[in-house]
Amino acid sequence: MNIEQDVDHLQRHLSLHLHNVLPAPLCAGMIARYEHARADGETERVTAELLRECEERLFTGELNTLLDAYFQGPVKPRWPLFEAVDSRASTNLLNTYWHLDTGTRNTHKLFVYLNPVAEHGGNTVMVDVERTKRLRQAGQLPMALDERKQDVTEALEQLGLSTEVLAYDLKAGDAVLFDPITLAHRCLPPREGRLRYTICFSIVPERAPA
Ligand SMILES: [Fe+2]
Repeated sequence: MNIEQDVDHLQRHLSLHLHNVLPAPLCAGMIARYEHARADGETERVTAELLRECEERLFTGELNTLLDAYFQGPVKPRWPLFEAVDSRASTNLLNTYWHLDTGTRNTHKLFVYLNPVAEHGGNTVMVDVERTKRLRQAGQLPMALDERKQDVTEALEQLGLSTEVLAYDLKAGDAVLFDPITLAHRCLPPREGRLRYTICFSIVPERAPA
């Protein structure tokens, strides 16, 4: 991890691909523990354990240095969430529509992928700051849940903007860190018969934004 380069990239793009924040074998072990727990009807207890272990492991060392440097002060990981999402994305269907999150300015999301996008196709896709602004001004990112769109290609074309979306090739143990209040985004549902296992934290600066 090159902290200076990563901070610079985050400042310019508000998103970053973090490689190998958890070792891949550990991720596979976590998935196995979750699946055992599901079979035994103990998901609640085991999920809480997995989240606690992940939090202890993640927010030390290089990642913490990066976050402290980027947010210019200490941060707090909040609202940890373990998800095993299937192709119907029934647990978080609304995230499959283009949207902006609400919340305190500067809050970022950290999605750690426990299994690779190449295995399930359930990536997190975004558009950049400028095009998000234009989409928002054009009323194409409505807050109303039943008005959200799964495809903004036409809207971007009508605005004369590139229709390219930003997505990282996330391997097991990689993470995407991004500003979900400023960048339009959606989570693609995994392919039929595949599951996407992720651990997500909201990263909130302890100091109020200037
Ligand atoms: Fe979101």
